[in-house]
Amino acid sequence: EKGGHDYFMLKEIAEQPKAVADTLLGRIDGAGSLRLDEVRIPPHELREVDKVVIVACGTAFHSGMIAKYAIEHWTRLPCETELASEFRYRDPILDHRTLVVAISQSGETMDTLMALRHAREQGAKVLAICNTNGSTIPRESDAVLYTHAGPEVAVASTKAFLTQLVACYLVALYLGQIRGTKWGDEIRTVIRQLSEISGAVEQVLETMEPVRELARSLAGHDTVLFLGRHVGYPVALEGALKLKELAYMHAEGFAAGELKHGPIALIEDGLPVVVVVPSPRGRSLLHDKIVSNIQEIRARGARTIVIAEEGDEAVVPYADHLIRIPITPTLLQPLVSTVPLQVFACELATARGNDVDQPRNLAKSVTVE
Ligand code: F6R
Repeated sequence: EKGGHDYFMLKEIAEQPKAVADTLLGRIDGAGSLRLDEVRIPPHELREVDKVVIVACGTAFHSGMIAKYAIEHWTRLPCETELASEFRYRDPILDHRTLVVAISQSGETMDTLMALRHAREQGAKVLAICNTNGSTIPRESDAVLYTHAGPEVAVASTKAFLTQLVACYLVALYLGQIRGTKWGDEIRTVIRQLSEISGAVEQVLETMEPVRELARSLAGHDTVLFLGRHVGYPVALEGALKLKELAYMHAEGFAAGELKHGPIALIEDGLPVVVVVPSPRGRSLLHDKIVSNIQEIRARGARTIVIAEEGDEAVVPYADHLIRIPITPTLLQPLVSTVPLQVFACELATARGNDVDQPRNLAKSVTVE
């Protein structure tokens, strides 16, 4: 049942190209436009939406953080992403023009369910992004966009996360498509690039041996830090979460720009720091800034593990370890940059003798608040 793998987690990591492709299947028409008729909120109602609020927990929350960048860019709608467990206690401002997106693999997470109930009571529309057919969260939502990751058995979410990202991009692009923004051409191009992205995920999986080797060599460390900017920031948080829950190590993710406001004090000789580097194309200012962040931490003794696009030569002099990922559009990069971090955490945890499918103190579905 583990398909020849030692752990479900390894099987599920390997299934990601298919999970991504399956989640796109049937949702892009022959003309290259999105068809999301299954989302039963009529286009005229979606056109009236004036704010998007995303609620989710854990790994699903990280996909929601990435969705915020995509939604604000392609739709020009204000978007907030909030931890479901914090949401209703702050009496959030919601009305019938608010679209609330609840993201959940299991569809049973109590924090997320309570947040969506609160949103509906205030008159907001709720769209669920969910991997489990007929579970409670989609049943209680106005509409649902299912992710097609297939059953996820390992406690730590991997393939569900990638498909949540795909679903978030679909929602962002679809809202952009029906509302019409100045990014119309870019939206069409990105839909096409998204339809081809599973090949890039496959490509990453084929080059993971050096990452596994590196992970094993770090098994004796106590701390690993993760840095990113823009959509690389939630990826850094996700890399740290995976390492915490699987390897039981102190792992923290930071927005690289925040480093100088405090966390840089943590850097000491030999400390492994993983840096997720944005594409040098497009937002090149961002790229230059992260290169200086890498220089700064390296000058203070950090052992830098750099995840960067193929052809990005600027990072080479400052990378103690370089992990290459395929060139992707800026906003889609998390689909490829997350994969090495999953492999890294899984291998490091195994090297420390942990059961990666059943980490201590955790359950697959958290049905208490
Ligand atoms: C981490 C992980 C958890 C879940 C979170 C939400 O690897 O799996 O953080 O993402 O408990 O679960 P769902 O998506 O089922 O609502």
